[in-house]
Amino acid sequence: MKVFVIGSGGREHAICEALKKSPKITKIFAASGNAGISIIAQCAPISETDVEKLLAFAKKNEVDLTVVGPEVSLAAGVVDVFQANGLKIFGATKAAAQIESSKEFAKNLMKKYDIPTAKYEVFEDYNAAVQYVKEQGTPIVLKYDGLAAGKGVVVAMTENEAENALKDMLFDRKFGCGKVVIEEFLLGQEFSFMCFVNGENVFPMELAQDHKRAFDGDKGANTGGMGAYSPLPFITEKDKIFALENIMKKTANALVAESCSFCGVLYGGLMKTSNGIKVIEFNARFGDPETEVILPRLKSDIFDIFNDVIDGKMPDIQWNKQCSLGVVLASKGYPESYKKGFEIKNIDAMQDVQIFQMGTKIIDGKLLTNGGRVLFINALADNLKAAREKVLTEISKIHCENLFYRKDIGFQAIKF
Ligand code: AMP
Ligand code: GLY
Repeated sequence: MKVFVIGSGGREHAICEALKKSPKITKIFAASGNAGISIIAQCAPISETDVEKLLAFAKKNEVDLTVVGPEVSLAAGVVDVFQANGLKIFGATKAAAQIESSKEFAKNLMKKYDIPTAKYEVFEDYNAAVQYVKEQGTPIVLKYDGLAAGKGVVVAMTENEAENALKDMLFDRKFGCGKVVIEEFLLGQEFSFMCFVNGENVFPMELAQDHKRAFDGDKGANTGGMGAYSPLPFITEKDKIFALENIMKKTANALVAESCSFCGVLYGGLMKTSNGIKVIEFNARFGDPETEVILPRLKSDIFDIFNDVIDGKMPDIQWNKQCSLGVVLASKGYPESYKKGFEIKNIDAMQDVQIFQMGTKIIDGKLLTNGGRVLFINALADNLKAAREKVLTEISKIHCENLFYRKDIGFQAIKF
C-alpha cells in the first residue's frame, strides 16, 4: 500500500514513523516533508494548501491512502476535493474543520449543545470589545477568530494589555481580517484529549499535556507548544470518562446534527477546573507536539486504524504502558521573529530517543534549522522523570548556536 502524508512538521514525522511500522506499507510520500521525513518518505515540494497539486500528485502516484496533518490543509478543503475524486483520505472536511478554523463556530456549537466551556461574547467592533472588557474585568482571554498558528490567543492580566491585544487583532489586523472571541478566564490543569472520530463513533487515544509558553515556569509568550508528555497522573479515569462522554462524544454528535459530520482526529484542549472539566479549544487534527509523545506509545498498526475509522469499522487501538516525554528545540526568538539556516551538528550522537524533525532542511549534506520549532526529542521510560532525564542528557549532545528549549517539561506531573 502507498500512503501520502500532507505536512512538514514534527507531527507528520511522527505519523510517518508510525506508518513505517506497518507491514502493509510499501511506500510513503510526503508533501512537503522535511529533512527527517525525507529519510523515510519520498518528499514532494508541494504546498500543504495547494489542493489541486496535492490531488494530482496522489493520482499520479496511485496513492491508496492520504493522511492530513495540518489545519491549513483541512481549511483549504483538501479532504472535500480528494473525496469528490474518489480518493481515500483521513481528515476532516472543510465544514467539520470549522470546529478549529473558527472559534466563533466552536463556541456557538458548544453553547447550543450544552458542552462545558468558558462564558464568551464575539466582537468585530474595537470600541464595543473594549467596553465589554471593562465590564467583565481582568484577567480575561482574547481569541482571534481564525487560524493563527497557536498565536492568536492573549490571556490579558490588565485592561491595558487587553486593549493593546484588541488593537492588534481588530485595528491593525495582525492576523488578517477577523472577529475576536472574548472569553472568561479559567484556571486549572490543561490537557489534550485526542480521539479518532467518524460521525458518532469516537475512539479515544491516551492523554497528553502540552506546554504552550515559551520558557521554563510557563513564562513568556504562547507558542505552538514547547514540549509534551503522556500519561497524565492528575487526570483520573473518572475525569477521562466524563470528558469522553460529555465533551468528545457530545461534540461529535453535535457535528453530525449540524450536517458537518466529523471524520479524522478531534482534539479537545481541555481544562480541569474547580467547576469540572471544560473546553478551552477544539482542533480538527492531531496535536503538535502531542502526537510526537503519544504515537510512540501506540502498539497497534496506525495504517489499520486510519482505514478502519474511515470505513466505519471498530479500530483496534492498543497502547504500551511506558511514559513518554519530549522537548522542542526552537529557534531563538520564536514565537516572534527568528532566523533560519543554522547548522545542527551531532544529531546522530543521541541514543535511545526518538527524534522528530519539526523545521529542518538539508543543504549540501548539512542539516539546517528551517522553522520556529526545529526538533522534538522524545524518550520512553518507566516513569516521566526518567524520560525527561534521558531527553535532557541526549539534547546536550546537539550543537547548534541558535536553538533554545525548556528544561522543565512535565513539571506539573514530576515530583522533584
Ligand atoms: P487556545 O489556542 O485556545 O488553546 O489558547 C491558548 C492557551 O491560552 C491555552 O492553552 C490556555 O493556556 C490559554 N487559554 C485559552 N483560553 C483560556 C481561558 N478561557 N482561560 C484561561 N486560559 C486560557
Ligand atoms: N499543541 C497544540 C496544538 O496542536 O494545537
